[in-house]
Amino acid sequence: MEKILIVDDEPFICENLKRILEEEHYMTVVDRDGHGALNIIKQETVDLVFLDLNLPDMSGLDILVQMKQWDPDILVIIITGYASVESAVKALKLGAYDYIKKPFKADVIKLIVKLSLETQQLKREVRTLKKQTEDVLGGQTLIAESPVFMDMLKQVREVAQHSEVTVLVTGESGTGKDLIARTLHNLSPRRHRPFLEINCAALPENLLESELFGYESGAFTGAKGRKIGMFEAADRGTLFLDEIGEMHLGLQAKLLRVLEDKKIRRIGGIQSHETDVRIVAATNQNLREAVAAKRFREDLFYRLHIVPIHLPPLRERPEDILALTKTFLVEFNRKFGRNFKEISPDARQLLLDYRWPGNVRELRHVLERICIMHDDAMLQEMHLPKELTAHRPGDSMSALPFDFQISESGIDLEAVVDQFTQYLLKKAMRMKDGNISHVARLLGVPRGNLRYKLDKYHMGLQDAS
Ligand SMILES: Nc1ncnc2c1ncn2[C@@H]1O[C@H](COP(=O)(O)OP(=O)(O)OP(=O)(O)O)[C@@H](O)[C@H]1O
Ligand SMILES: [Mg+2]
Repeated sequence: MEKILIVDDEPFICENLKRILEEEHYMTVVDRDGHGALNIIKQETVDLVFLDLNLPDMSGLDILVQMKQWDPDILVIIITGYASVESAVKALKLGAYDYIKKPFKADVIKLIVKLSLETQQLKREVRTLKKQTEDVLGGQTLIAESPVFMDMLKQVREVAQHSEVTVLVTGESGTGKDLIARTLHNLSPRRHRPFLEINCAALPENLLESELFGYESGAFTGAKGRKIGMFEAADRGTLFLDEIGEMHLGLQAKLLRVLEDKKIRRIGGIQSHETDVRIVAATNQNLREAVAAKRFREDLFYRLHIVPIHLPPLRERPEDILALTKTFLVEFNRKFGRNFKEISPDARQLLLDYRWPGNVRELRHVLERICIMHDDAMLQEMHLPKELTAHRPGDSMSALPFDFQISESGIDLEAVVDQFTQYLLKKAMRMKDGNISHVARLLGVPRGNLRYKLDKYHMGLQDAS
């Protein structure tokens, strides 16, 4: 039930208002002066205030300002005599919702209260909804139009509910592993607890270890005081271990132990503590290969692999290429004051044909660059960077990727090198009818390395034809 505070020094006005409001079943509180009214605001949740501007102890406008500071959502309706309409107008500027003139009619009061409370309720709902959406997506919009990606999201939603289960997110660079790890957390019952992330490739082994587990004072030279590790800091939340494939073997063993025992011990510590943390790990490596090469512990692999979530490369999700393009255009139009509204059929085809080795991150960068450099109503072929236009399937020798220019808008070096490599691999495979040994000799690379590259670019033998 909504609570309404009536602040007026005339007892008759207070009684009258109270009666009208109680007829409508609102809860009412009455106070005769400004200080008393402010105390009530600070102690109780009040939805609406009727405030007389002429109070004995302080200026009505001051009270209004202080009330709004305390609770920006509070609705204040000014009660005013004919003489003071001017100050009522001033009050509106300071955030009052409306004003009523004395003497007032019961119907008018009832209507104004009903409407103002409804508006307030709507505003609150909008704010909550907005906050929820932002929470779920970590402030970013997750675009998913392709059936494969939507299927994957269904899995994410499902596994999010099982908040104990370890999840391994795999996929090429830029496919959205970070975004998915966050989404998983935000959809899980742990969402009100911390989401912490650490990149296992970014720190040397001993630093990573102390980040994860913390240490006791004097655990090693330089260990001043004790440090809480991420496992403890993320208690009942989610810990995102990015680039898990880069973790050292020694540390892998320690991580495995934590996952199995659900206990951690700070470095140099004696006591173990229970931990309740969901691990989400991510990698763009092929962990099976890393296991085969003895760079990754097999037991840890299976422990992490309980629920694998694989993000398909962007080139396999044409619907997403177009949906993401539109979304990013809207974003960068706004950011750079541009007007791109449509995509020409040619440009659309080029976007769909390109391999996107850098996946969504690359697409985002390409569109950002376009919006910085150009302005047009239609996104056209001429706006697209060379790596998209120079590598059409079936193009003749004249369209070799050798003559890449570095335009003023810049290029994506890795993407270009990737394309170059793929181009040469394809050509060599064709020349040698897909015979791996011959191709390896032709290109001067070891066979294992060649297989790795073919795998990396998803170039089976059929691709060579
Ligand atoms: N489905 C999507 N919708 C909207 N934006 C996306 C989507 N997928 C990825 N992105 C955006 O693409 C960029 C790269 O995504 P992210 O950092 O999650 O990739 P990643 O797989 O973690 O890459 P890396 O392996 O290099 O760490 C980010 O800006 C992210 O917001
Ligand atoms: Mg990442």
